[in-house]
Amino acid sequence: MTHTNTPRKYVIANWKMHGDLAHNQALLDRYVSQLSDLKGTQVVVCVPYPYLAQAQAKLQGTGIAWGAQNLAKNEDGPFTGEVSAQMLCDFGSQYVILGHSERATAYCESDENIAQKFMVAKKHGITPILCVGETLIEREAGVMELKVGKQLDAIIDLYGVEVFQNTIVSYEPIWAIGTGLAATPDQAKAMHLFIKGKLMQVNATHENSVKILYGGSVNPQNALQLFMVEHIDGGLVGKCSLNAQEFEGICQAAESCQE
Ligand code: PGA
Repeated sequence: MTHTNTPRKYVIANWKMHGDLAHNQALLDRYVSQLSDLKGTQVVVCVPYPYLAQAQAKLQGTGIAWGAQNLAKNEDGPFTGEVSAQMLCDFGSQYVILGHSERATAYCESDENIAQKFMVAKKHGITPILCVGETLIEREAGVMELKVGKQLDAIIDLYGVEVFQNTIVSYEPIWAIGTGLAATPDQAKAMHLFIKGKLMQVNATHENSVKILYGGSVNPQNALQLFMVEHIDGGLVGKCSLNAQEFEGICQAAESCQE
């Protein structure tokens, strides 16, 4: 299945640093048999770099897309351990997660670095999935819009808001990631409205081209409720993407709440 029109919902698997050849093989086989003919949902699998070739071999021509979880801000050169956008393209990657909080905190990734990576991805035709979100302390202090606004401004100030065309932003409250405690639909709705409002400063076509996902403890039980919220265009799924049955449940939720 290939989407001729922009899909209404996206469900993106973030495998993080999980998996091995045998496990991936079984999981991807299952994804392909269960999720290849969804009508309005684009499924994307973001795998660790070494498994891009495996994802490409398994998913090519199925309608399920694949991508990576980071890329280098430089095009090429003496950057030991880095992986360039062109290398991702060599393995058919159409998406890349950028600015995930696990990278921002553990690898001291700055907003400026993330902004540069965002542009490099776009230049190579890879859709960036930009993660933004606040910590629990920031939420309790009521400064979540300030935090997320700053993360978006790091890109807008350098390159203009137009660069968000044909990209994906994932609102990921850090307190909800891997904790089993998802944001409530109301909490998510308020932040999605804020993000949408900020990216709306361009023009009407822009409104349709940027997708805003929710990420943080999405599971088959809460997915439908979250995906039904206006301005939530799908989810970025960590833990539950490693379990075929749970991931299918989430994808079916996205599929069943299409207008
Ligand atoms: P989680 O991860 O679904 O395990 O909470 C989400 C994410 O980190 O993108």
